[in-house]
Amino acid sequence: MSDFVKILGATRESHDTMTFEFRWDEKASPGQFVMVWVPGMEEVPMSLSRTNRIKSITVKAIGDDTRRLHELRLGDSLRVRGPYGRGFSLKKGVETLAIGGGAGTAAIMPAVKEIGADVIIGARTEADVIMDDLASKYSKNVWISTDDGSRGFRGNAVQLMREKAAEKSYGMVLACGPEVMLRGVLGACSELGLDCQLSMERHMKCGAGLCGCCVIDGQRVCKDGPVFTGEQAARMPEFGSKRRDEAGRLVGAR
Ligand SMILES: Cc1cc2nc3c(=O)[nH]c(=O)nc-3n(C[C@H](O)[C@H](O)[C@H](O)COP(=O)(O)OP(=O)(O)OC[C@H]3O[C@@H](n4cnc5c(N)ncnc54)[C@H](O)[C@@H]3O)c2cc1C
Ligand code: FES
Repeated sequence: MSDFVKILGATRESHDTMTFEFRWDEKASPGQFVMVWVPGMEEVPMSLSRTNRIKSITVKAIGDDTRRLHELRLGDSLRVRGPYGRGFSLKKGVETLAIGGGAGTAAIMPAVKEIGADVIIGARTEADVIMDDLASKYSKNVWISTDDGSRGFRGNAVQLMREKAAEKSYGMVLACGPEVMLRGVLGACSELGLDCQLSMERHMKCGAGLCGCCVIDGQRVCKDGPVFTGEQAARMPEFGSKRRDEAGRLVGAR
């Protein structure tokens, strides 16, 4: 489904990240994403950071298209297409730890809201931490890690995850963030014997399983993912090492 929606709320989350709220009646589940567009930009994928009737996207400005989205103001129109992809498979009653790295924190919020999971938010510095207030609204246990130690645990989200997993026994770990973090989560979970689900990112054009530009080891991230189980991710040699550029060529992972 493709619709033009009106921006009802625009909130600054940090120096480079903003959340835009809109009303959209399409049904969506935690971990799904939409393709978004306004005139003057290429369409880009964005996870839904809220999945009720009032939905939101949380955008980190890193290039031309995401900077264009940051120009949106209350009342402006945004075209959304979707929702697409397989989201997180959530089970109430299973002790769950959700890990968000950088802008990936936005994608775990609907899951945290639905099951009240414990949360780790990883960021480079205190200034890069986003959505900690929202996480605290949904969850009793919210922990922050920063690479430079300016807030919370000094170190990365995977190191903090190892500490927390030693203190409490979790039945599921959910994660979304930079691929290097996701690889770390996968490695730690397989060592510790924990099940995990990882939300991956690849360059996308159609978002709907047709063009093939988001393929990783034969799986379409837009349609078969973006959330994959740890077992699926472990069978993907390209995960953490290769990605496709805009022309579909395999290049080194970021
Ligand atoms: C399923 C999915 C969900 C996503 N959800 C979100 C979200 O909720 N919030 C959000 O801010 N972004 C999200 N993204 C990433 C977002 O789509 C990209 O950041 C955006 O397309 C970049 O467009 P741009 O034109 O602004 O930057 P570009 O000009 O395309 O990129 C600018 C620079 O950043 C690099 N870059 C591009 N994408 C990434 C990336 N993902 N990670 C690291 N470096 C990158 C490029 O190589 C380039 O050097 C998601 C991506 C996918 C596939
Ligand atoms: S973006 Fe076209 S198949 Fe995934």
